[in-house]
Amino acid sequence: MMKKPPAHELDHYETASRDEITAMQVSRLRWTLRHAYDNVAHFRDKCQAKGVDPDDLKELKDLALFPFSVKDDLRQTYPFGLFAVPMTELVRLHASSGTTGKATVVGYTQADIQNWADLVARSIRAAGGRRGDRVHVSYGYGLFTGGLGAHYGAERLGCTVIPMGGGQTERQVQLIRDFEPSIIMVTPSYMLNIAEEMVRQGLDPRQTALRTGIFGAEPWTNAMRAEIEQTFGIDAVDIYGLSEIMGPGVASECVETKDGPVIWEDHFYPEIINPETGEVLPDGEYGELVFTTLTKEGLPMIRYRTRDLTRLLPPTARSMRRIDKITGRSDDMLIIRGVNVFPTQIEELICGDTMFAPHYELVVSRGGHLGGHLDDLTVRVEAAQAHAGEDRAPFARHLQHRIKSLIGISTAVEVVDPGTLERSQGKAKRVRDLRPKG
Ligand code: DLL
Repeated sequence: MMKKPPAHELDHYETASRDEITAMQVSRLRWTLRHAYDNVAHFRDKCQAKGVDPDDLKELKDLALFPFSVKDDLRQTYPFGLFAVPMTELVRLHASSGTTGKATVVGYTQADIQNWADLVARSIRAAGGRRGDRVHVSYGYGLFTGGLGAHYGAERLGCTVIPMGGGQTERQVQLIRDFEPSIIMVTPSYMLNIAEEMVRQGLDPRQTALRTGIFGAEPWTNAMRAEIEQTFGIDAVDIYGLSEIMGPGVASECVETKDGPVIWEDHFYPEIINPETGEVLPDGEYGELVFTTLTKEGLPMIRYRTRDLTRLLPPTARSMRRIDKITGRSDDMLIIRGVNVFPTQIEELICGDTMFAPHYELVVSRGGHLGGHLDDLTVRVEAAQAHAGEDRAPFARHLQHRIKSLIGISTAVEVVDPGTLERSQGKAKRVRDLRPKG
């Protein structure tokens, strides 16, 4: 097992006491609220409508008095309306295309970029990375925060960065062979794609110089972690983030415990709320993750609703709290005959089973295999290479039965040939929705 770095190699708040963390958070929250209130008309209007003022925050629980923000606030003020500094102070913009409507645009001052680099450096160190490690970055570069976020953090730690970006899978494999990186940063679904390409070229994925993978940008399960660790003979850790709050490195997992990403609480204050009522829930209860930034200058975010579902867990390897693995986004939740289902629940059953390859998609349709006006779910999954030539009907029945008994829904299961399903180049798209629109 990897050992925890000695305390003198960690940042101050990684080992600080809870009292010290709380005091720092109160003072940084007061700064953030004042900064946003004085400089962002949209936020000030929302506070005035609720009758709250930044001075009303005396202790952490007072944050609940303040209004939430959501993606729509960014859309309404597109492109720059939520920025809290003059445009001349910004040194970088990122944007996410989003599947519907306008892009959301985020901006960073020089200090924001430095904090971001420090936090990704801290995240790579938590994964076991050190100065001198070679880091292969396969997150996309450009407007997506993954590539550049990882890049600046790896440089900050003193690593040698290989800025490969997403796609060109053959080339990825060649560079992993020739440049011998010890760390890779990539989405877990694309990592599987890289493994397949290695096998196609007659290479053994366990024989690379890679020691650690830092995976995120999409939900993935512990069953997927086991699959990737086994396939490559590496440690796989989870990095979490979102562009509205910063990008990758809002929270990241420690390799010595692999027990969920540690929230870098000196820069982001987390809450879990009941997504229906907005009520703040105690640590340990599942709900929607909400973040308030504590140091952001360019785009301070107050109580931003991420739509990610998880729970807060107590500190272990560091002094800061953790999140449990994200179950999914509330947008990705399927309701199949009244039962809520997340793709990750199906993934757990598929990855835990040697009959199947870890490639799947969920097709939602109406009036399909069960008839009527309710939604139907078809799970399409590839047979494992070792079972490629066998009769698939028993595999399908087996998975169908497991889904019925463990998740409680009736599905159709289609077991397809290895290599049939579309491969991810970045974030995997797990759900195909064939329901009539409108
Ligand atoms: O995906 C930032 C990022 C890049 C994180 C690289 C980690 C690594 P967005 O494109 O704004 O930013 O998407 C953010 O992706 O709200 C989650 O739904 C999902 N997500 C990100 N990391 C994880 C993770 C980047 N580790 C959205 N586990 C978030 C589960 C994740 N979901």
